[in-house]
Amino acid sequence: MSAQFDFTGQTVLVTGGSSGIGLAIAQGFRDAGAAVTITGTQASIADYPDDLTTFTYHQVDMQDVPGVEALANGISKLDVLVNNAGTTFRGEAAYDPENFEATIDINLNSVYRLSHRLVPLLKASGGSIINIASMTSYFGSPRGPGYGASKSAILQMTMSLGALWARDGVRVNAIAPGWIATKLTAPIQGMAEIADPILQRTPMGRWGEPDEMIGTALFLASSDVAGFITGVTIPVDGGYCTL
Ligand SMILES: NC(=O)c1ccc[n+]([C@@H]2O[C@H](COP(=O)([O-])OP(=O)(O)OC[C@H]3O[C@@H](n4cnc5c(N)ncnc54)[C@H](OP(=O)(O)O)[C@@H]3O)[C@@H](O)[C@H]2O)c1
Repeated sequence: MSAQFDFTGQTVLVTGGSSGIGLAIAQGFRDAGAAVTITGTQASIADYPDDLTTFTYHQVDMQDVPGVEALANGISKLDVLVNNAGTTFRGEAAYDPENFEATIDINLNSVYRLSHRLVPLLKASGGSIINIASMTSYFGSPRGPGYGASKSAILQMTMSLGALWARDGVRVNAIAPGWIATKLTAPIQGMAEIADPILQRTPMGRWGEPDEMIGTALFLASSDVAGFITGVTIPVDGGYCTL
């Protein structure tokens, strides 16, 4: 699929590219010829089960403001910024105000900070930003109010920054994955009381795979085919949003 797109000579940063959706998107850009930097929370790529040797790796906790600044300071050229890193708290921990704030810091505030810091490089390259939203951008998230608030704000911020930077030649779009089988959702995939309603509501009747996000990411980043698209969030969800 990546062969349909050519990112040779382009530089891509995927936050949270060490795993799941971010890793799949990073692999997609790499296979299309880009030089890809990924981030993760661990000290080195040796700490991850997947082979990450074809990427430049940077350790950062997106809750750590100086850490995010250091990440930005290390980037001198950029064509595509994929703001993918994200997390959630589960169970009673999801209702702790400190965890609500942490979720907003990781999933939202760091996305704005990094985008704001790196947009001069994107203006210089005519590049674009891809944010990762969620079904909770559209629907209530009673098991994770901080997660839902952060992802709904991602959708709104995508519109705002898309409008703000349009005349600078920087497009800002988002992907809203449906329910995707990753490390993040592993705790609930086997919980029938949560997983069964998800699958019943998903017209395609299955969990999505991380690599099913690649095509939309490459499409949105391709200025020759998506050059008039900005501020949109595209669901890639097996039809979840249709019901
Ligand atoms: N899976 C789904 O069903 C789904 C649906 C909609 C949206 N999303 C979104 O998709 C994105 C990727 O999630 P995923 O499902 O692929 O989960 P994942 O496999 O757990 O990947 C999450 C990535 O974010 C990184 N990360 C987590 N907390 C971080 C922190 N505090 N600071 C810096 N990096 C952090 C992780 O680093 P480590 O590998 O070091 O932990 C990892 O690289 C997230 O924004 C998530 O909200 C997922």
